[in-house]
Amino acid sequence: MIKAFIQERIFHLQTKNTSYIIKVLPSKHLGNLYYGKKLDFDMDYNNLELKHKLEVGSQVAYDKEDKTFTLNTAFLEMPTFGKGDFREPMCHFRLNDGSRITDFLYQNFQILEDKPKFPKMPEAFGDHIETLEIELVDPVSSLQVNLYYSCFEDSDIITRRVVVMNKAEAPVIIEKVLSMNLDLNNDDYSLTSFDGAWIKERQINQQIINPGILKIDSKKGVSSADHNPFVVLSNPYCNEHQGKCYGFSLIYSGSFEAVVERNPYNQIRMQMGINSFDFYWELLPDQSFVSPEVVLTFSDQGYNRLSQNLHDLIKNHIINPDFKTKNRPVLFNNWEATMFDFNQRKLLNLAKKARQLGVELFVLDDGWFGQRNDDTSSLGDWFVNQKKLPLGIHKLAERINRLGMSFGIWVEPEMTNVDSELYKNHPDWVIHHPQRACSFGRNQLVLDMSKPEVIDYLEQALTKLFTSANIEYCKWDMNRNITDLYSDSLSPKDQGKLSHLYVIGLYDLLDRLTKRFPKILFESCASGGNRFDLGMLYYMPQIWTSDNTDAFSRYFIQYGTYFGYPQSVVGAHVSDTPSMQVLRKTPLETRFNLSAFGLLGYELDISLLTPFEKKVIKKQIAFYKAHQQLFQFGELHRLASPYKQNEMHLMVVAPDKTEAMLGIFQSFEQPNAEFNKILLPMLDEKKTYRIVKRDQYFNLEMFGHLVKHALPIKLNAKAMFFHLLKNRYLFKTETDDQIVEGDVLVNNGFIPKQKFMGTGYNDQIRLMGDFGSRIYYIREVNENEKNEEFKL
Ligand code: GLA
Repeated sequence: MIKAFIQERIFHLQTKNTSYIIKVLPSKHLGNLYYGKKLDFDMDYNNLELKHKLEVGSQVAYDKEDKTFTLNTAFLEMPTFGKGDFREPMCHFRLNDGSRITDFLYQNFQILEDKPKFPKMPEAFGDHIETLEIELVDPVSSLQVNLYYSCFEDSDIITRRVVVMNKAEAPVIIEKVLSMNLDLNNDDYSLTSFDGAWIKERQINQQIINPGILKIDSKKGVSSADHNPFVVLSNPYCNEHQGKCYGFSLIYSGSFEAVVERNPYNQIRMQMGINSFDFYWELLPDQSFVSPEVVLTFSDQGYNRLSQNLHDLIKNHIINPDFKTKNRPVLFNNWEATMFDFNQRKLLNLAKKARQLGVELFVLDDGWFGQRNDDTSSLGDWFVNQKKLPLGIHKLAERINRLGMSFGIWVEPEMTNVDSELYKNHPDWVIHHPQRACSFGRNQLVLDMSKPEVIDYLEQALTKLFTSANIEYCKWDMNRNITDLYSDSLSPKDQGKLSHLYVIGLYDLLDRLTKRFPKILFESCASGGNRFDLGMLYYMPQIWTSDNTDAFSRYFIQYGTYFGYPQSVVGAHVSDTPSMQVLRKTPLETRFNLSAFGLLGYELDISLLTPFEKKVIKKQIAFYKAHQQLFQFGELHRLASPYKQNEMHLMVVAPDKTEAMLGIFQSFEQPNAEFNKILLPMLDEKKTYRIVKRDQYFNLEMFGHLVKHALPIKLNAKAMFFHLLKNRYLFKTETDDQIVEGDVLVNNGFIPKQKFMGTGYNDQIRLMGDFGSRIYYIREVNENEKNEEFKL
């Protein structure tokens, strides 16, 4: 809810648990009084103000009549450069006379009952989202800036964006236009960012904010795996369950910046928006520029609550509502199984095997089009490779449908290879500088998405593909960063627009295609997680998290990713072992258990599975499908962090707390191991729960030569018979079935079976091993159900 107190010139935005309070300062600048835990509307707002009674030493007074007020220490909502605020400006302009001074003063406001929609831009949406629009004007240049604040009350989210309008008669250059500025008093804040690179995306990093400027950004044309466009400010007392933190997430898929500045007065300035590096935008008279939207949230109950606010927003107000609670199919993807080396027979063979395991969707990855047999050719030629698939996509999809699975396909529309029909016909469609040799990434070039003819071509080519067969899923890839940033369709003074125009062109194309094909489930991908952001999620309800499918690496990637994104958007596949990316061996059950806390898929050569693996995978898929809604859409809680402990604990809980899944993931087997007692504060203290371990299996190989001590028959671990046995025999792990009161689980914790200690083994012992894991299904039980057999 938003209330304007006209006399006090105060705007108070309230969500379920937070307040954001803005004031028009006596100087007419827009100031921030407060952002944090909810305050009453009915309060004395004077108590929120800094007391300016004396001139601040060596500062420039904004107005000679009031020496006590300087912009440099004020908490501002839209700071610019030139009148005494020497911190980073939120927006910066070069006016027609060459000056760079602007001074935006309050003019007007409106409270809109609905959130205004800006075309060609992804955004958070919803019914009756109250929005505060504030008009600021720089009287000398006639530039106007409208600030928009929208309240997503139930999610405890406030979104912000800026629209710049040139109301002058001369053009203006925008050199910087960020989406937000928030000034806060420093409460010993640290900045948490989610950084990485290919196959190690969204690793958690926390740094102290020292005096000066801390910036994370992307200049790659995509939001990038280097730094996710989502950051957190938190004080030292904050952990997963308690403490104060703020989250900021940008709804944008291109180059961005997030800046934190600490000034000598121990004030913190937080900013986010399109990267100002290499950005300049000429705004002609009567033109406007719309910034991307940024999402702000506050939690005083630690990081989990902060993440849940964001998860809630994404599930209810960012992704396509048609997919909101729609079960995501268990998929098989042929990439790690075959790479480019496949034909129709091979694919159909894999499809048959996949179906037998319980897979619901068969995804044909890279290599099905043009002359593509490796990554040197054919991107852009979105027609079938007749040699590999003589019957075409249509027939292949038909056969796969007949097997009882839906069919999906991979494309990488924003790219081309020199060796392609597309490039031969349109060499001018790639981003390049005419006098410079192009730089290549994965042997490919980037199409100039600022050109309407490129967007039209891609719309046509993909429409043709999507209507040519029963395609129900599309993996949309983007495998290189953008260099040689120059477009021959833009004038020299407009070249600074290209990076943003690329993103706008992409959004335009995605808008057209997702509207035309509303039933296709799109999955965004960029060499894994190189473009994992809210902008892409607006068009595509899920993202391929990382090309790294090694389960242990995934502990860190998924744990980091969950900070800003729910598991319902996290593509997670079981691949072969040793892993293709790190050559590590991990147990099949752990590969599944972790993928189950995301969108489950299988990506390995299932034609080579042993009987052991087949049986185990079949059980995994059946279990996942039986609990698909809970796994995919339950409220996610992070308990133990792999960044801090030898174990990671994850939990998904149904909204009514009647059921939950707990995952325990171990890094390494510890000698003389610790005992587990896992507090489950998210459960209902008044309920009674039954906790049953999922049936899991391990391979005899785990014991190797030690089986001779464990089994009644003597086996030689080096002999052929052992080899045969291990591939067939399902060695069941311990059973665990407990009935525990909710208040015990909340206050004393869940106590699983004792871990292996090196002193012996029997079926009461929880033998995890390196990278071992367990899943426990937790369900409310009433008196009668307590003695019933539990069906999983
Ligand atoms: C990227 C993707 C992979 C796969 C390959 C195909 O690397 O991230 O999943 O689709 O492209 O070339």
